[in-house]
Amino acid sequence: NWNMLDIADEFVREVRERVGPEGKVIGAVSGGVDSTVAAVLLKTAIGDRFHAILVDNGCLRKNEAVEVVDRMRNKLGINLRCVDAADRFLGLLAGKTEPEEKRKIIGTTFIDIFQEEALKIGAVDYLLQGTLYPDVIESISYKGPSAVIKSHHNVGGLPATMHLKLIEPLRELFKDEVRTLGIALGVEEFSVWRHPFPGPGLAIRCLGELNMENLDMLREADAILIEELNRAGIYREIGQAFAVLLPVKSVGVMGDFRTYEKVCAIRCVQTTDYMTADWYHMPYEVLGRISNRIINEVRGINRVVYDISSKPPATIEWE
Ligand code: XMP
Repeated sequence: NWNMLDIADEFVREVRERVGPEGKVIGAVSGGVDSTVAAVLLKTAIGDRFHAILVDNGCLRKNEAVEVVDRMRNKLGINLRCVDAADRFLGLLAGKTEPEEKRKIIGTTFIDIFQEEALKIGAVDYLLQGTLYPDVIESISYKGPSAVIKSHHNVGGLPATMHLKLIEPLRELFKDEVRTLGIALGVEEFSVWRHPFPGPGLAIRCLGELNMENLDMLREADAILIEELNRAGIYREIGQAFAVLLPVKSVGVMGDFRTYEKVCAIRCVQTTDYMTADWYHMPYEVLGRISNRIINEVRGINRVVYDISSKPPATIEWE
């Protein structure tokens, strides 16, 4: 049984030695457990010579960018810059409905922005990556239609011309060990237990036309779902939980009026490795509360459905 803080100390020493007294390191962060723990280690090792970059692609969850900045910059003291690139991403994504095309646009734009930020910082030699052990042994733990892009999301797709040397503090750890390490380092429970969130974010959960209005509708529905799962005390039983906005309208009735609005699907799965998954057997009362709240509180949605497909043959995401 390894002592997590010893591992952290050893890593911090190694990084100091490798990077030297002047060297700079950059790394993309999402606020999830891997990038948060990796960033805390780098900050401990070299302080503000570690530059964390959060790219807001306009497809993050409700209040996410603000909350990640608050946690990482204000609470954990990490030298973080948040790039508000929502307009740029949404401009490029306008009219695109094909899932892989959406992923490609988001992946390449993310890399462009990351590279621009690296140039602004200047004289960067090292790149921090939150690679875990399962990623190392399988090259990437996710094998599916979007496997290629998942490596993009982890910035594996940065041009070789940047000549960045990799720093991978988590490459010998499994996810549960990263969580234990996070807790030992004082990372908040909220970040430590956060469900994984795909690089393309809500773009692949907002089916059909992608615009701010639809994304905002989805953000509201998603926030209600997560709030109710936490309130019911079942968030940690679930591997991933999210709302999907369907490009389908259905008829409803509100008071004396007929409505014709969007359908929202709820997807909650239990899984150990995300390669296979079972739909979560959610208590009916919780399902009922989620449905009522979404329909009552989110304008533009008048119907909620629960996804009871397993993976395989369905995937976890809808796109
Ligand atoms: P699927 O939908 O193929 O997803 O069952 C399995 C896991 O991978 C995540 N996922 C992605 N992650 N970029 C990512 O970073 C992607 O393009 C992507 N597509 C799927 C998904 O959220 C789930 O955890």
